[in-house]
Amino acid sequence: MAYNLLKGKKGIIFGALDEKSIAWRTALRCHEEGAQLVLTNAPVALRMGEINKLAEAVNAPVIGADVTNMDDLKNLFEGAMKHFGGKIDFVLHSVGMSLNVRKNKPYTEIDYGFNQKTLDISAMSLHRVLRTAWDLDAISDWGSVVALTYIAAQRVFPDYNEMADAKALLEGVSRNFGYHYGVKKKVRINTISQSPTQTTAGSGVKGFDGFVSYAEKMSPLGNASADQCADYCVTLFSDLTKMVTMQNLFHDGGFSFTGVTQAVIDQMGK
Ligand code: NAI
Repeated sequence: MAYNLLKGKKGIIFGALDEKSIAWRTALRCHEEGAQLVLTNAPVALRMGEINKLAEAVNAPVIGADVTNMDDLKNLFEGAMKHFGGKIDFVLHSVGMSLNVRKNKPYTEIDYGFNQKTLDISAMSLHRVLRTAWDLDAISDWGSVVALTYIAAQRVFPDYNEMADAKALLEGVSRNFGYHYGVKKKVRINTISQSPTQTTAGSGVKGFDGFVSYAEKMSPLGNASADQCADYCVTLFSDLTKMVTMQNLFHDGGFSFTGVTQAVIDQMGK
């Protein structure tokens, strides 16, 4: 059901790779709620061509940008402002990649060159995006920026590997930039800590299926889906959450505050 929550708002969505992507689901929901969009992804992801289907569905241009490249980001924000004929009201940062996970390096044996790249793509890229918008004064007063994170930033999930550190850094950037952007322009910046979700990035984690079913059993409401995450993003981009900033918001069916569930106890007794 649509509520026109984003009528007249203009947003940039990073990270729609295919129809399972959280960014893809969010773009569809934002469009449904009346937003105008610009889509972006890394040039290598654009070559897959999938994003063109989404672009057509939500009537949005696609502007390629590698999140580690400041020239690309400047070009993206300038292009988006030109397209909209004004400033941007919301941004979804839905970007993550671990080179060490990809190369099957365990946490205790990571390659530090890969690690730097992982931290740049998955965490400092939020700083780069915000810095670009800050320098160009590209985000409207009371604008909203959301980045996606995972609870491995606070608690140990061994196979999440270096991405756990990347998410901790991402949440730190969101909080710290959130302070400065809040004071300067009332721009709010939050992270959503999402349940494990079957997507390309998610499935890269070793033993991911076990991970998903464990979280399902450990969450009173069950795991949150990508579509439900999209709904939550819409609320944060809307004017109904104007005073929420610098928060890490758990969107996980209650997983984060559950010690154990009866379903897990029953399983352990077997
Ligand atoms: P996805 O694989 O569909 O999205 C990741 C996106 O990052 C892709 O579109 C990819 O092209 C983009 N990307 C990678 N390197 C890039 C670069 N250099 N420049 C620009 N874009 C780049 O997977 P998903 O799950 O939708 O991931 C979105 C976000 O949600 C990520 O931050 C992920 O860590 C986070 N998240 C995912 C969970 C899951 O279980 N799937 C759980 C909690 C958070």
